[in-house]
Amino acid sequence: MRDILSSMDAHELRKKYIDFFVSKGHVRIEGKSLIPENDPTVLFTTAGMHPLVPYLLGAEHPAGKRLVNFQKCIRTGDIEAVGDFSHLTFFEMLGNWSLGDYFKEDAIRMSYEFLTSPQWLGIPHERLGVTVFAGEEGIPRDEDSAAVWRSLGFRDERISFRPREDNWWGPAGATGPCGPDSEMFIDMGKEPCGPSCAPGCGCGKWLEIWNDVFMQYNKDADGNYIPLSRTCVDTGMGVERTVTILTGKKSVYDTEIFQPIIRALEKKTDASKMYRYGSDDEKDRSMRIIADHIRSATFILGDPKAVTPSNVGAGYVLRRLVRRAVRHGRKLGIEGCFLAAISRVVIAEFCGPYPELEQNSAVILDELQKEELKFLETLQKGEKEFEKLLPNLLKDPKKVMSGRLAFKLYDTYGFPIELTEELAHESGLTVNKAEFDAAFAKHQEASRAGGDVFKGGLADHSEITTKYHTATHLLQKALQIVLGSHVAQKGSNITAERLRFDFSHGAPMTQDEIQRVEDLVNEQITRDLPVTMEMMSLDAAKAAGAMALFGEKYEAQVKVYTIGDFSKEVCGGPHADRTAALGHFKIQKEQSSSSGVRRIRAVLE
Ligand code: ALA
Repeated sequence: MRDILSSMDAHELRKKYIDFFVSKGHVRIEGKSLIPENDPTVLFTTAGMHPLVPYLLGAEHPAGKRLVNFQKCIRTGDIEAVGDFSHLTFFEMLGNWSLGDYFKEDAIRMSYEFLTSPQWLGIPHERLGVTVFAGEEGIPRDEDSAAVWRSLGFRDERISFRPREDNWWGPAGATGPCGPDSEMFIDMGKEPCGPSCAPGCGCGKWLEIWNDVFMQYNKDADGNYIPLSRTCVDTGMGVERTVTILTGKKSVYDTEIFQPIIRALEKKTDASKMYRYGSDDEKDRSMRIIADHIRSATFILGDPKAVTPSNVGAGYVLRRLVRRAVRHGRKLGIEGCFLAAISRVVIAEFCGPYPELEQNSAVILDELQKEELKFLETLQKGEKEFEKLLPNLLKDPKKVMSGRLAFKLYDTYGFPIELTEELAHESGLTVNKAEFDAAFAKHQEASRAGGDVFKGGLADHSEITTKYHTATHLLQKALQIVLGSHVAQKGSNITAERLRFDFSHGAPMTQDEIQRVEDLVNEQITRDLPVTMEMMSLDAAKAAGAMALFGEKYEAQVKVYTIGDFSKEVCGGPHADRTAALGHFKIQKEQSSSSGVRRIRAVLE
């Protein structure tokens, strides 16, 4: 049993974090959508700093230089690991930022005060340990941070110098801002695992609760680390992990964050032999998977920029989450549909800090139910197919089902390999899993829809993507002129090769309409219009006729980008300075995206 440092729940933690940093001159900003805009490198927002990338790269933030918030995040890189005691796909991250304001000394002092002051988290000083960057060729050891920790009373054995793998953050792309970080750990009271056991050791003695990143260098194309003139601080504290540690729980699933979901799930298991969490390892694992996956699916579907289940990109991740939850529901003996009932509990638990869940609850429940029914049908079909194959399979002297056949079941009927294995096992067969994996990997490679892991932070906002960003504004305005004022942005995705723009419009565009839109955009490029930015309140921006995304949360002060006399939009930037830089605009494709939504793919040549 772990000791209890605090009885704090997630609501209290969020509130304290925000209150503390507001008392230190930070402005609270809204968390952003789970689906990133204009970032081709990822499917989901994966860290609190993610929506702030342009500001960490030097753009001015409308709310100032000291910011604080909590941000919903999804990381799917470890989706297969979910089910253990610690991995989650959805999590909340608390963060505070300095954009060219304070740096290491103040960041560390504030972190320390928040962790230890009885008014805030009240963690005893002796329970804390920290790590700092050990340095490497060309980059000095982070003695600055270590000196601040020493001045706060940390003895040398509580300050562990660690290499890049542990104490360095960013850039995600080849170039960009990055720097050493300093992580804070809690001593769980276990015996050290050996003489070198120190903060940062993975043996379970030290659990990390916070990360202060010091954006100090710009990595250039030659791999040099050039000191930045404007340094930033980016920090991240995971809500779930911190609550688990503070409340002395074995896992996040034992905290109030997940317990209501687990309880609801128990009720869904067969009433006569209701399964209680904690009685069987395998079943507990299934419960954790379902709880995590339904929570994530609820947040994805409840987002203002929600995606629906599909076979590509974020929609595919959503589909996987739903299907895996259904499958584990069957393992628990749950009959019929249960996702919507569990999702209702998630909505009730989280709609306080995330009111969008309540607002979008009808869509969430409806989509879950539809996808669940569809998948249950798939399962039935797959089972029938398997039965048809069985007599032949049993003729094999080695009793092995080929991976090729298992892949066919997956590919044709969407029948998951785990179920094929389960059915095979029940009939005394095994599946050639290596052969299945090979076929599966080949298929994945062919249908890959973009990376789903946002490794360390800063996307490559190269010049070309900036130009595409500006072209997207011109395109939206041109579409409104040619098709009508009902045209509104439904999605935008930019890579270094093209832009993709989804917008509301009920019919395919005619060849003539496409031509007129293209001409209008090119005309603005030829006019070499200046692109200017102004900060104002959202109301003032709307009064000035600026387009804004319906349903998106904005700060009190927003940036408005104006392109000559042609377009005005609320947007975070960055943008090209003048339109002539864009070159020649060409629409390559116009097609349906979903009902009432069209999609344009266009390039700058
Ligand atoms: N961006 C840093 C992280 O995610 C703080 O750990």
